[in-house]
Amino acid sequence: MTAVGPRLVERSAQLAELADHLAAVRRDGAGRMVFVGGEAGAGKTALLDHFVTASRAPATSGRAEPFHAPRALGAVLDIAAQLGGRFEEQVAAGGSSVDLVAALTTQLPTDGPAVLVFEDVHWADEATLDFLRVVGRRLHRLPALVLASYRDDEVGRAHPVRTLLGELATERAVLRLTVPALSLAGVGELAGGAVTDASALHELTAGNPFFVSEVLAAGEQTVPDTVRDAVLARRARMSGPAGELLDATAVFPGRVEPWLLERVAGPAYAEMEACLASGMLVPDGEGVRFRHEIARVSVEESLPPATRARLHAAALAAMVGHAPAVDPARLAHHADGAGDTAAVLTYAPMAGERAAELRAHREAADQFALALDRATAAPEAVSGDLMARLLERHAYECYLTDRIDEAFASRQRLLGLHLQTGDRLGEGDTRRWLSRLAWFRADRETAEREAEAAVRILGGLAPGRELAMAYSNMAQLRMLAHDAPGALSWSDRARCLAEDLGETEIVVHAQNNAGTAELLVGRLDGAELLERSLAAALEGGLEEHAARAFTNLGASFTELHLLDRAAEVLDRGIDYCRDHDLDSWRLYMTGWRSRMHLDRGDYQRAAADCATVLTNPRAALPSRIQPATVLGLVHARRGEPGAWPLLDSARAHARRADELQRLAPVAAARAEVFLLEGRSDEVAAETGDLLAACLELGDSWLAGALLVVRRRAGVEDDVPETGVAAPYLLELTGRFEDAAAAWEELGQPYERAWALIDARPDLARGGVALLRELGAGAAADLASRELRDRGVRGLPRGPRPRTVDHPYGLTPREAEILALLAEGLSNAEIAARAFLSQRTVDHHVSAVLRKLGVDNRRDAAARAADTLGR
Ligand SMILES: Nc1ncnc2c1ncn2[C@@H]1O[C@H](COP(=O)(O)OP(=O)(O)OP(=O)(O)O)[C@@H](O)[C@H]1O
Ligand SMILES: [Mg+2]
Repeated sequence: MTAVGPRLVERSAQLAELADHLAAVRRDGAGRMVFVGGEAGAGKTALLDHFVTASRAPATSGRAEPFHAPRALGAVLDIAAQLGGRFEEQVAAGGSSVDLVAALTTQLPTDGPAVLVFEDVHWADEATLDFLRVVGRRLHRLPALVLASYRDDEVGRAHPVRTLLGELATERAVLRLTVPALSLAGVGELAGGAVTDASALHELTAGNPFFVSEVLAAGEQTVPDTVRDAVLARRARMSGPAGELLDATAVFPGRVEPWLLERVAGPAYAEMEACLASGMLVPDGEGVRFRHEIARVSVEESLPPATRARLHAAALAAMVGHAPAVDPARLAHHADGAGDTAAVLTYAPMAGERAAELRAHREAADQFALALDRATAAPEAVSGDLMARLLERHAYECYLTDRIDEAFASRQRLLGLHLQTGDRLGEGDTRRWLSRLAWFRADRETAEREAEAAVRILGGLAPGRELAMAYSNMAQLRMLAHDAPGALSWSDRARCLAEDLGETEIVVHAQNNAGTAELLVGRLDGAELLERSLAAALEGGLEEHAARAFTNLGASFTELHLLDRAAEVLDRGIDYCRDHDLDSWRLYMTGWRSRMHLDRGDYQRAAADCATVLTNPRAALPSRIQPATVLGLVHARRGEPGAWPLLDSARAHARRADELQRLAPVAAARAEVFLLEGRSDEVAAETGDLLAACLELGDSWLAGALLVVRRRAGVEDDVPETGVAAPYLLELTGRFEDAAAAWEELGQPYERAWALIDARPDLARGGVALLRELGAGAAADLASRELRDRGVRGLPRGPRPRTVDHPYGLTPREAEILALLAEGLSNAEIAARAFLSQRTVDHHVSAVLRKLGVDNRRDAAARAADTLGR
């Protein structure tokens, strides 16, 4: 049972709102989820505790704690332990989020809605956040009120909780509630005459209830300067054993179990009553915790280092060997606090393996990083084998979560170890990894060099799986460089060897490269090969290979302009990667999906996908090229500023990657923007070399795109008879109507519009109208100018039909701002995401509010779900 604090000040509105949500769950039989945000000490926990007690609904809660790396599935495990049954079984068995939510559904009370509380999700691990994401998407089948508290000032743009909020932004049953600071009157009420100058207290504390209550409880004559001083003044008044008990409690983030605290505090444990009576500790479930985490941290930080280490050591000693076993993340935390390197080296890797099993790869990487850090500081304590294993595991978990630079650094250190010990097999295999990672860093030179070195070194040893992977890596590099014959021959070598060795995983990898290479040269059998590799990977639970198969299918279909198939595969693949915490591929595929949306003429979705990738600071360079190009084109076609910085960075990244499949689309995009800006002279230089390369390597779509954009700029190229994709070839040979029909068939309205414009005056008008409908105002203006010069009259002008069509008359840009606003972003954050100045965003936001007829962001966000057209 949670303790209900004293009466709450200024929270009746929030309590009523929560009560309304609970009533709605009861009424509709469908769940709701409320994210309760507020700064540390704003009173989120106090509000939720109060609500839960007052509502009398059956409630279960779990919390995340600020460990070095959080417990994998921490809050979910708490709740599972309370609910038991099938849910607990599924959690223990490491079921996927989808399975867990299904099990949870079967276990909710049937006589009325339950309340599930997830506290402090800003500290939650990846697996818990994923669970919440699935909960948010399945509320219609989960008749519960799910409350998740988080510190909204601690989740910056790149914080996973922001991503989660963004992903759930369009779910109608997912809502937000902010716990605001107290007003001057509220502070006065809380002080209840205990201070003479409530306004000084209000000013000092900025109305933060925790700070206010701490100052009041400290009862000093003078008001302390900081909340920490107020906490420590209170601690100082607890003399003797009661103080010792507080100190012992302070080394446990979150709550601590009685058996554990008793072991650590010794005789001082008898002072529990006094500590509870003082209000510094509060009961929590079967254990206790500090009334507030800020107080705990203040006390822990004030401990003399030796005392602190001793307490952590005592905690560790009490936990080791305890049955049931304590979460290894907790052991690692205390081992580290005790400064016990040997124990860190035991428990952090254990916690890392456990996190990896539960698909919390980010936490796994953090645990291996902790172990590595301590091992590096005390090399004498670490065997070469252990060091190698830590580097290996750290590198792999970082690779899975797109922390490519860290992965690269660990592989380099690992290479150093292998060179020292003369381990040729290890060296060859590590070089193969370095090659792969260098590719992610868009460093083709290193990628090629290390790939060749790996084949050379491993080729001199007895053939094994490492050599087969080195072959397959070569195949992959050739494939990425659009060298289909090269890719096919290397993947054959890989496949033969892997089959001899019975290495299914490598067979799958090689099949994947071969399939992609076939598709590259336009042979659709490649898709079948890839589908087979995908099915084998899914069946064998080979997550990484499944992700690669999705990626290569999605990218190839997009490149071949098979947009419906691309959409289907990319949606599936992105979902799969999100479910399995495979960020690198999720972001890379999201970039490709932005291109697919662009080609389909859906600029809003394209821009949203671009924003997802570009605003993620961990997105690797190759993942950024496509979305930077696409967003540049969207801006330019709409006639908005901001295209060039994006196209410049796309070109810089593409040049480093030095692959045709990156360079050519960037060049085509830049050429198009030159045209739109009336700078046709620049087109030839931008595209010349790349056109030759596309023709040489037989990339008919990119060749076609470059030829057409050059033709529009007045460059006279010979049109080759083969090697140019059909719709482009039709345009180049003057069969514009057929070209328009071909583009229509492919579902590409923008290209269709231009073909119509070039066809006949009567069709041209339709083409211009189509461009306006798409929101491509700048393109429509350019086309109109050209047509007027050619003497065509009666061209459609005026407001873009899109603006008129939007239910609230929002412009495409305003609709995009609304989508970001609905994610709960501030104007400054929106500015950063949309690549606009903050003033411009302020301006757009007021326009959005005005047009929606609402006066605050929250109502606007609530309405966003309806207007986003989902
Ligand atoms: N509305 C209120 N009226 C009176 N006291 C309050 C109110 N809200 C919070 N408090 C006091 O402030 C303390 C801190 O609040 P609480 O622990 O709920 O903060 P929190 O928002 O959960 O912070 P954190 O992010 O650190 O978890 C509570 O213990 C309670 O005593
Ligand atoms: Mg709290």
